[in-house]
Amino acid sequence: MKHLGRTIGRAAAVTAAVGVAGLGYASLIERNWFRLRHYEIPLLEEGARRLRVLHLSDAHLTPGRRMLMDWVRGLDDYRPDLVVNTGDSLAHPDAVGPFIDALGPLLDRPGAFVFGSNDLYSPTFKNPARYLWRDSKTDYGERAEPDLPWQELGAAMSASGWLDLNNGTGRLKAGEADIAFGGVHDSHIGLDRYDAIAGPAAPDADVRVGVLHSPEPANLDRFESDGYDLLLAGHTHGGQICMPFYGTLVTNCGIDRTRAWGLNRYGRSWLHVSGGLGTSPYAPVRFCCRPEASLIDLVARG
Ligand SMILES: [Fe+2]
Repeated sequence: MKHLGRTIGRAAAVTAAVGVAGLGYASLIERNWFRLRHYEIPLLEEGARRLRVLHLSDAHLTPGRRMLMDWVRGLDDYRPDLVVNTGDSLAHPDAVGPFIDALGPLLDRPGAFVFGSNDLYSPTFKNPARYLWRDSKTDYGERAEPDLPWQELGAAMSASGWLDLNNGTGRLKAGEADIAFGGVHDSHIGLDRYDAIAGPAAPDADVRVGVLHSPEPANLDRFESDGYDLLLAGHTHGGQICMPFYGTLVTNCGIDRTRAWGLNRYGRSWLHVSGGLGTSPYAPVRFCCRPEASLIDLVARG
């Protein structure tokens, strides 16, 4: 009996040590182990020059995250023709300046953005594992007024010429391509108004890009049927806490878990969901789900 007690005690100690080591890895190592994914899509007319799109999302920046800021700033070395930010850039009232600093030279390139719920509302303490059993949409139910400086963030990106696509459309030249955009605000907090942009995407543009924070099928379906070629979204964090040999457990929205990150077809469109750069400061862990940004090269068909 005494022997059994000792064995159980040892097993409990080993389990606790593995748990602490796992948490340390997830919060100190993997959360700062950034990955740049690279995709190529044959979307442009024959003979067209390659168009390089940098997709950033979900930085959830607090002012002290120097490694994240330095890594984002360094992405300018890849010389993207276009930068798209799909929101949730902030996680602190003083993060606008650091986020704009992190973008640095990227702001001199053509760009476009939408907001996510976390650009409007500051983070609150939650159980880091809540993603596994509930939808964070309910977290916003009782908070009426945004308390983060989203207008300041939007003004800074707009001042650099980036298109504000929160329930809006726009057009710009990037590389040698004429690009038509449509975007919606965040459906996760009910601010999306697809009706404001509904209608066929400009048929005379070289490429049509739909931009949204949360890859909610109700909006993706409408972008796809309006003829947008490439849909860019974030929000899922790729699951954030994933299972080895299984992957994403939950997406925190209506998209299926097999499309929680990465490039997939969505009807006639291409859908890229970014696994995102950050985490809520109150859930500062990533496991089997490294923080990321993506380079998407649009190349000529055939
Ligand atoms: Fe996010």
